[in-house]
Amino acid sequence: MYHTRKITNDVMWIGANDRRLALFENLFPVPRGVSYNSYLIRDEKTVLMDTVDSSVAGQFFENLEHALDGRALDYLVVSHMEPDHCAMIGDIVRRYPDVKIVGNAKTFTMIGQFFGDDVSDRAVVVKEGDTLSFGAHTLHFVMAPMVHWPEVMVAYDEKDKILFSADGFGTFGALSGSIFADEVEFDRGWLDDARRYYTNIVGKYGASVQALLKKAAGLDIAVICPLHGPIWRENLGYILEKYQKWSRYEAEEQAVVILYASVYGNTASVADALAGQLVEKGVKKVAVYDVSNTHVSELISEIFRASHLVFASTTYNAGIYPAMENLLSDMKALTVQNKTVALIENGSWAPTAAKQMREKLSELKNVTVLDTQVSVKSALHSGQAETLLALAEAIVETMSE
Ligand code: FEO
Repeated sequence: MYHTRKITNDVMWIGANDRRLALFENLFPVPRGVSYNSYLIRDEKTVLMDTVDSSVAGQFFENLEHALDGRALDYLVVSHMEPDHCAMIGDIVRRYPDVKIVGNAKTFTMIGQFFGDDVSDRAVVVKEGDTLSFGAHTLHFVMAPMVHWPEVMVAYDEKDKILFSADGFGTFGALSGSIFADEVEFDRGWLDDARRYYTNIVGKYGASVQALLKKAAGLDIAVICPLHGPIWRENLGYILEKYQKWSRYEAEEQAVVILYASVYGNTASVADALAGQLVEKGVKKVAVYDVSNTHVSELISEIFRASHLVFASTTYNAGIYPAMENLLSDMKALTVQNKTVALIENGSWAPTAAKQMREKLSELKNVTVLDTQVSVKSALHSGQAETLLALAEAIVETMSE
């Protein structure tokens, strides 16, 4: 059965949901599934804005044929060549042999790389500032290199003031009938997944996102159509502000996130005790995570959100506990910045994790590691509570209202 929804008179959502996928990009858990959005503009010409992942091909083609209502497809616009959106290009060409493919020069290089096909006879090559008219609708093409692939481009529809934003403003989570952000409780039900999607997939490319946001500021945008998750047609300032913060590596709120690595529970106990002390000192937002039990993508998302971080790691093989070391490496890869950090180490005979974590954190930009730290030998006992209290005080002193 087809499942499409109207965005404007001429533009239709024809995407599909995958709720079977365990790991997006074979890496990120998606317990709420994921949507692959695709859009059809029906004008004098018909224009498909991206295809979908092969896993939802059946639903996608049913939707597309319903939306075309017997017409042929004239154009396919390829925002970027990541296979979760371009997998169906070959099938589109076979079904609609006269279709033209719109992309930039790099798009067509990648079509060759992925599919080995020469599509030059149907290629419409666009560059920054180019426009294509399909009747009442004119698309303006805006290059967005490294948001988050090199060939990414977004398109702005002058008539309906729609920004087709590629992966920008996307989120994990399947769409359950509601396709607009104003049809769901975004802040409660979607924001965490939107942040997890952004920070892990686009997070490294903050400067490129900033460049795109500057270009977008010059457009009169009424609707944002991303390739995953809800479409924005109300309160665009909400998601734009989030993107400003995330792409500038600014914390969303004054909050402490405590991340611990614990083998037998003693480091976990210290982390929980510190959390309690922070709350008693008036810190309202404190979260504690076991790095062994929480997917690294969730930890990264929380790290982007919070102003203050505490890393508590047992010493393992004379180094940092592996799950913690992996997290610190991921932070570096995603260029986490602008944090205040406190350290706790544990070790029954030679605690060295704090020194090594400090070294790894020194590779990050604008990360202040507090001098006050806690070194535990096996377990922290009641007589040593003052040590932890001093750390809590040092953290609180650096927090603003
Ligand atoms: Fe959703 Fe960059 O692909």
